[in-house]
Order: sequence, then structure tokens, then C-alpha cells
Amino acid sequence: MTSFVVEPATGPLGGEVQVPGDKSIGHRALLFSLLSRTPVTLRGLGGGADNGRTARAIVQLGATIERDGDLLRVAGRGVGGLGAPAEPIDCGNSGTTIRLLTGLLAGQGFTSTLFGDESLSKRPMRRVIDPLTAMGARIAGATRGADTVPPLTISPAAGGGRRRLTGVSHELAIASAQVKTALVLAGLYADGRTTIREPGPSRDHSERLLAAMGAPIKTRRGEVVIDPSGWDGELAIDAIGVPGDPSSSAFLLAAALVVGAREVGCRGVCINPTRTGFLDALAAMGASIAIDNRRTDGGEPVADLWVRGEAPALLPTVIAGDLTVRAIDEVPILAAVAARAHGTTIVADAGELRVKESDRIATTVSMLRGFGVEAEARGDGLVIEGAPGPLRAARIDSEGDHRIAMAAAVLALCADGPSQIDDVANVATSFPRFVEVMRGLGATIQILED
Ligand code: S3P
Repeated sequence: MTSFVVEPATGPLGGEVQVPGDKSIGHRALLFSLLSRTPVTLRGLGGGADNGRTARAIVQLGATIERDGDLLRVAGRGVGGLGAPAEPIDCGNSGTTIRLLTGLLAGQGFTSTLFGDESLSKRPMRRVIDPLTAMGARIAGATRGADTVPPLTISPAAGGGRRRLTGVSHELAIASAQVKTALVLAGLYADGRTTIREPGPSRDHSERLLAAMGAPIKTRRGEVVIDPSGWDGELAIDAIGVPGDPSSSAFLLAAALVVGAREVGCRGVCINPTRTGFLDALAAMGASIAIDNRRTDGGEPVADLWVRGEAPALLPTVIAGDLTVRAIDEVPILAAVAARAHGTTIVADAGELRVKESDRIATTVSMLRGFGVEAEARGDGLVIEGAPGPLRAARIDSEGDHRIAMAAAVLALCADGPSQIDDVANVATSFPRFVEVMRGLGATIQILED
């Protein structure tokens, strides 16, 4: 097992960081390159294991990938040219890989099997299987309680030809970019129009990139429509730039806030409004993050983010509704910051966290309690009793969840002695250089292999 041993910070942090490429956009850049008629040059892809799973999957489906310095050159197969994989596709720990692939493979004329690690094998798939089945897809999986979980076997739908599926109108019960994208991809292989409505603003990276590639996709507030009638069936793009991952930068900015910073900067971070709930929640807590040098990269808004000065006195806040959706992956680190505020922070409308890489409501609460913070789980959220002052040095089990491990490492900087965070190998799924980058900012972290 891999563990981090984190020493309390002895002074303010400082440094400038290029955070890894956004994991969500990286999955889409790879997968949609497989569908491109023209070869695609990818720039800025993060080196995380989750994106690596998607890269291997597209090779199994017929793409070739060549590395050229920092660039990847992907020769895809075009929308109609995917090849049957010779082996089952291993999606590892990556929910985005398996859910997006399920949508894409549902419309193909061959059978494929998708599987993953222990955590992925518990994650609910009916949210994609049910609407895809309504489109004519044939998907079988394992049963877990009332849900269906991996491994999934996807057989050709009954309809022949290029458009095997049938368009549907689907209302998502929960805002989910993974489900939305799975249905969008299936919609490219469907006869008729597919309409997806969602109750909140989930990330829209797929819509932006597919539109730039010539897909028959239209978005209105809360609604995405794919209408292949009149479309030539081709997608193409020459180059895709992947901006920095706001979800990775969140740990660095939070560390700078809770410890204090001479100046900590994250350059080139995606500030797509569907991803900036973290910044809005921090602003509500009285923490100021300077946003400089706003620009566009790869069809996404990007900026440099800075924290400067002593650790501010933080206010408690309420994170609920659309804000929760826009900060869904940042709840563990926001809860860690809230532990340093004066008073009670409430996170609500976050039931989805129960079915992420771990039950993140439970793992966040036990991580906070390990450091002596009063915290309580609610059905769809949590309550954090924040108090400044040193935390109790702790031994934390991150339960293999990368975001719990990194949030715990940040909080450990405020403890009264060294803390040990266990089961952290999965930090490599999203941020393989996390320890190196934190050390560069001035943190003392050792890696133990046991
Ligand atoms: C993601 C969507 C979100 C997010 C996940 C990545 C994506 O999941 O939590 O980390 O890349 O589409 P849901 O679609 O389940 O909300």
C-alpha cells in the first residue's frame, strides 16, 4: 500500500504551477479523436491513469497514437470506422471512461465488454443503460442491489446499417455530464432526434468539442439536441488543446489558503462556468482568488489563478443546488477548507457523492473527524463545524479515493504533528505529480510503500 506522510507547514507556500490537463476534457479529446476523419494533434493532455485508460481503449477500437514530445498524434477511424476490440476493455478506476464508452459502443455493429477495478465494479450503470436501452441498445451487466454494475457487455442493436439506434427524449433525474455525453454519442448513431434535458448545469465540454468537430448538436439552457438528419456523418478536427484541470488546481489553491502564501499561482486553468463552483464557494467564504489573464484555449475559457497573503479568516457557507453541481468533484477539498472557517458549513444536494470513487460523504466525514474536526453526514450532504487553530495529527484511510487522499494531505499541513494518509496510489488517476508539485510549493511530504 502507498501512503503519504505529511509534515505540518512551517511557513507560507510559494510557487507557480502548470497543473495537469483537465481530466474530463482529456477523455473527450481522446475519444472524439477516434471519431475524427482527420488525424488529431493533442496538446496539454494530463498524464493521469484515467485518461490513460481512455487512450488504451481507443487503440483497442482501432486508433493509433504516437507521442511527439509533449504532443500526442492520434489517427482515428471516423464515426463509421470503429473496429471490434480483440479483448475486453479495462476502464480501471475511471467512471468517465466506462460511461462514455457505453454510449459510443451501443451504436456499433460488434460486441464489446467493459470492466474496471474494485471501485468501478460497484458504480451504478443503470443511469446510462436505461436510456440507451430505450434507444434500442443491448447492454447486460452484473447486478448489485437494484442497480447494474460492470462488467458490461454491449451487443449490436437490432437495427442494421449506420444508424442502429432510435433517437429518444430523455430527462436526466440527476445532472450528469457522463450520462449526457453517453446519450449524445449514441445519438450520433441513431435515427431521428435525441433530446437530453438535465436539471442542473453539468459540465459541457462534450457539447463544445463535438460542435467544433461538425457534429449535429445544438444546446439550449438545460437541453441538448442531436439531430443527424441532413448530417454527412463525419466529424473532423486537426488539433485539440486541453487546458489545466480546475479540479487539480483546487488542492493547490486550498493549500495556499489554509497555510498562507507568499504567492501561489496555477497557470492556464479551465474556468468553464460549469466547473467554477469551487471558486464561487471560496468567494462566499471570504477567500479571494485572483483570476488573471483570461483567454480561450481549445474552445474553453482559461485563466491564471493566484492566492496571495496570509491565511484569511474564513466564513462558513452553504453549498447547495446548482453550486453543488458546479463543484461536485471539489466537495472533499471544500469541506477541508470549511474545517478552517469560523462556524458551520452545510453541503446539500450532493447525494451523487455517495456513488463516486468512494462514498465521498462518508469518506470526507471520516477524514475530517480523523483530524479532530466535528463533521456529520446527512443523506445527501454533510455538515462541518469549522474552527481555526491547529488540527490533531491523524492517520487517515483515503479508501483508494484520489480526491480524499489529496484533501487529507492539504489538511495535514495544518496539524500539530506529522500525519499519515493511507491507500493513496490512486492519486495517479488524476494528478500523478501531486507530491512533487506540493513539495515545489514548500510542503514536506514523503511517500511510503508498504
Ligand atoms: C465527469 C462528470 C462528473 C464528475 C466526474 C467527471 C465527466 O460525473 O463527477 O468526475 O468527465 O463527465 P457525473 O457525470 O457522474 O456527474
